[in-house]
Amino acid sequence: MIPGEIADYRELARRRLPRFLFEYIDGGAGAQTTLRHNVSDFEQVKLRQRVMRDVSKLDLSTTLFGQPLSMPVALAPVGLSGLYARRGECQAAKAAERAGIRMSLSTLSLCGVEEVSRATGDPIWFQLYMIKDRGFMRDMLARARESGCSVLLFTVDLPVAGARWADARTGLANGHLPAAQFERMKAMAARPGWLWNVGLMGQPHDFGNVAPAMGKGGVREFWRWVGASFDTTVTWKDMDWVREHWDRPMVIKGVLDPEDARASVAAGADGIVVSNHGGRQLDGVSSTIAALPKIADAVGDKTTVLLDGGVRCGTDVVRALALGAKGVLIGRPWAYALAARGGAGVSAMLEQFRKEIGITLALAGVPDVKMLGRDALDAQEN
Ligand code: FNR
Repeated sequence: MIPGEIADYRELARRRLPRFLFEYIDGGAGAQTTLRHNVSDFEQVKLRQRVMRDVSKLDLSTTLFGQPLSMPVALAPVGLSGLYARRGECQAAKAAERAGIRMSLSTLSLCGVEEVSRATGDPIWFQLYMIKDRGFMRDMLARARESGCSVLLFTVDLPVAGARWADARTGLANGHLPAAQFERMKAMAARPGWLWNVGLMGQPHDFGNVAPAMGKGGVREFWRWVGASFDTTVTWKDMDWVREHWDRPMVIKGVLDPEDARASVAAGADGIVVSNHGGRQLDGVSSTIAALPKIADAVGDKTTVLLDGGVRCGTDVVRALALGAKGVLIGRPWAYALAARGGAGVSAMLEQFRKEIGITLALAGVPDVKMLGRDALDAQEN
């Protein structure tokens, strides 16, 4: 199959990955209502078709946090990506560099921040969770700084992990139970290509960033560490601590409420990501595209507002910018593409996005992404 839409990459990923990994990427929390709405609510946002405008020169470029990007898209932090393809985070970082955009590296990646930074000539963005052990956090921030990371994404919507039932069913969670181990073994045996390419040749499977705190260990040890280490006491006061230890742009990821958006600005955030963690945390909350306009109205003139969740094509990027975002992050699209075709798949998928953003701009009669605003939307959206 020659993949075109994200659905094609998803199908290829389903065929290539062991079930516990595919469902980890694909699934959401609870009844997955928010996950579905993240995608379906984009369809409700209607653009204006404008004609007889000069669209001979299209400008997709933008600048985020002082960094020029070829289009207003970045790769969202996605944990465990080194299991989707061999040294997957490095492959994705190189694809982002080729596309002239930025990759965000998850705390919970297999390749550590040094390895990924060495793989690309561009500075990557680094994502951090609040961990109880402040010594670990201080060291992690220092490692990110020394590796040249240019932006910190500080994820605040995961004091505890959402209820992701698929992970229990597939054996990814509860890794210590014999039944879970059996499920994982069965799933790996059913994917010999993955077993050879990633399972064997993609080693080591240490968690490069958290290894100093967690030690060596596989999936089982990893979940135990995650469960024991995330700090549930964090409040806005703790942002001062983060600010003291990070002097480059800091973006708060996981804001869905205008009040929290204002608090983020008060806490000194250079940006926020309107996000519900891709529908993986609190099920039943609003989609991000539905939450965006009120947040953009509240803080859009004070901080850089980004959005993620449900962005599946270039037209969605244009819709988000029209509703007030300055850029978007994409999560599952690059995870599927990486699993489907490695770094080349991520590159091809990003070029699809670029092409479709261009087509959408041309047909909406807006030649520059920086000119997008609510006037690009059908009157009923305003
Ligand atoms: C994520 N996300 C995420 N976010 C984060 O801050 N740190 C992380 O380690 C992860 N890990 C992760 C794994 C997987 C498999 C997915 C799908 C997502 C959330 C991610 O950054 C982003 O918010 C969502 O993926 C955006 O929604 P879409 O684009 O997947 O619909």
